[in-house]
Amino acid sequence: MTRAYNFSAGPATLPESVLLQAQAEMLDWHGAGASIVELSHRGPEFIQVAEEAEADLRTLMAIPDDYAVLFLQGGATGQQALIPLNFAAPGQKADYVLTGHWGKTAIKQAKPYVDVNIAASGEGEGFRGIPARADWQLSADAAYVHITANETIHGVEFRDTPEVGDVPLVADFSSSIVSEPLDVSKYGVIYAGAQKNLGPVGISVVIIRRDLLERAGQPRADIFTYASHLAKESMLNTPPTWNWYLAGLVFKWMIAQGGVAEFAQRNARKSALLYGVIDGSGGFYRNEVAAAVRSRMNVPFFLHEEALNKPFLDEAKAAGLISLKGHRALGGMRASIYNAMPEEGVQALAGFMREFQQRHG
Ligand SMILES: Cc1ncc(COP(=O)(O)O)c(C=O)c1O
Repeated sequence: MTRAYNFSAGPATLPESVLLQAQAEMLDWHGAGASIVELSHRGPEFIQVAEEAEADLRTLMAIPDDYAVLFLQGGATGQQALIPLNFAAPGQKADYVLTGHWGKTAIKQAKPYVDVNIAASGEGEGFRGIPARADWQLSADAAYVHITANETIHGVEFRDTPEVGDVPLVADFSSSIVSEPLDVSKYGVIYAGAQKNLGPVGISVVIIRRDLLERAGQPRADIFTYASHLAKESMLNTPPTWNWYLAGLVFKWMIAQGGVAEFAQRNARKSALLYGVIDGSGGFYRNEVAAAVRSRMNVPFFLHEEALNKPFLDEAKAAGLISLKGHRALGGMRASIYNAMPEEGVQALAGFMREFQQRHG
């Protein structure tokens, strides 16, 4: 069996050693006589898995004690609705900085509950940059300011945490969490669907400054209440145990590899290599995102002729490089190069891109 280098944006490639460990533990987890997914989430085996995963994520991200960590069913889109429900009064203003497709989704999910103010938007420039902080029109009385830390489709990434004063900063880190060291204390809420950098699809991580949990928010069911999930340690109902377990294995793998500081260096090298090939191709390949905010996780690029898209994808696949087709909203190609994508995979892609240009240029 040969595993391809998989550039999928999510669900995304997982570390091979994690998959092998999960395979080895599949039938009998640590002598329990059953797989971890066959055991009660309230039993000692899974409690151990859950507690270790939280402790390891806290270590990886240096999460301060005054932040709660939740592991919740489902994806980031659900959090985009829960955030206004939990942290804003009905119809209260909330500021959104729109830098791509996922920011639009966040706004769509929030609109039934809050008065959305688009404080700044990169849409006029085709989402090729991030509006300068000085140009943001923030509301004085906003419940929070929402940003998308990394736009997975448009390949635009905040390189610094924007200063927003006393209003809590809420950030969708779905596609860049644990890609580099982060000062968690600058955020009110950090949320992420796991299926890019943390593990499998089906579970989200939500990191919340504890004082925000005291906000009344809006009328909602208990199951949509972050404070209730925290009170039950993310086991208000049956949690996605398999996903939580796999994410925990990814956290242990990351720690063993040297933690987020090490991954930040690898990610800088990997992304620089691909942008170098694109920028050095004389227009054969192009990426139009402003260099200062190019994503280090998702590298969208276009070939100079659309007719080359199919041969590019076919030949890449034959070379063991898969899932390079760009998102349908943008077209072209996209290489997602999360933590679990080894440097050799990116080197193989860079080599393939140069050869493809020689053959077709
Ligand atoms: C940045 C970002 N936010 C939100 C989402 C939506 O996540 P989900 O499909 O888990 O709801 C995605 C999915 O790709 C994403 O990349």
